[in-house]
Amino acid sequence: ETFAEIARLQGMGQIASVGVANFYEEVLETLISETGIVPAVNQVELNPTFRQPELLEFHKKHGIVTQAWSPLARGKALNNPDIKAIAAQLERSEGQVALRYLLQKGIVVIPKSARRERLVENLGAKDFELSRAQMEVIDSLNNPEGRTGNDPRVWPGDDA
Ligand SMILES: NC(=O)c1ccc[n+]([C@@H]2O[C@H](COP(=O)([O-])OP(=O)(O)OC[C@H]3O[C@@H](n4cnc5c(N)ncnc54)[C@H](OP(=O)(O)O)[C@@H]3O)[C@@H](O)[C@H]2O)c1
Repeated sequence: ETFAEIARLQGMGQIASVGVANFYEEVLETLISETGIVPAVNQVELNPTFRQPELLEFHKKHGIVTQAWSPLARGKALNNPDIKAIAAQLERSEGQVALRYLLQKGIVVIPKSARRERLVENLGAKDFELSRAQMEVIDSLNNPEGRTGNDPRVWPGDDA
């Protein structure tokens, strides 16, 4: 009902774009087929070690921008030995390498830091490139079980 109303407002030109978060393929299918809304962006859990390739393929097919929440895996990605090695090779920080990888995949990133110096550091992910070989090393790190948050397919589950 909510999205039907949003679609109505979009049709009237009152809303330019619609964004969603934590929608998975089946829910996006329903949204698109029942309301005609193709979200401009879907904000989902995604980091170099948890990459949701099927969802990314769906986004690509429909022109939906992928926005990665917890793109550093809440800091865990920074301890990955391969990411550490690439950071050392390039004299960049682990955070910059993790974010750069996602940017080169065409993914929008929203890292959080409460520290000014890390905010500046993370912005530095825009200023260099990973080679194809370095990208392939990080490609191999995907772990489908590697969520840091809840799976939206099952959460909040029966307890809600
Ligand atoms: N839509 C959703 O369901 C959803 C769910 C979860 C999160 N989010 C959003 O996603 C954004 C980021 O998520 P997040 O905070 O969970 O995870 P994150 O950005 O992956 O990681 C944040 C953690 O990494 C540390 N950090 C950041 N930059 C660093 C750097 N350069 N070097 C070392 N450590 C660094 C931060 O510590 P310091 O702060 O101490 O630097 C913090 O502990 C937030 O805006 C959040 O609201 C959305």
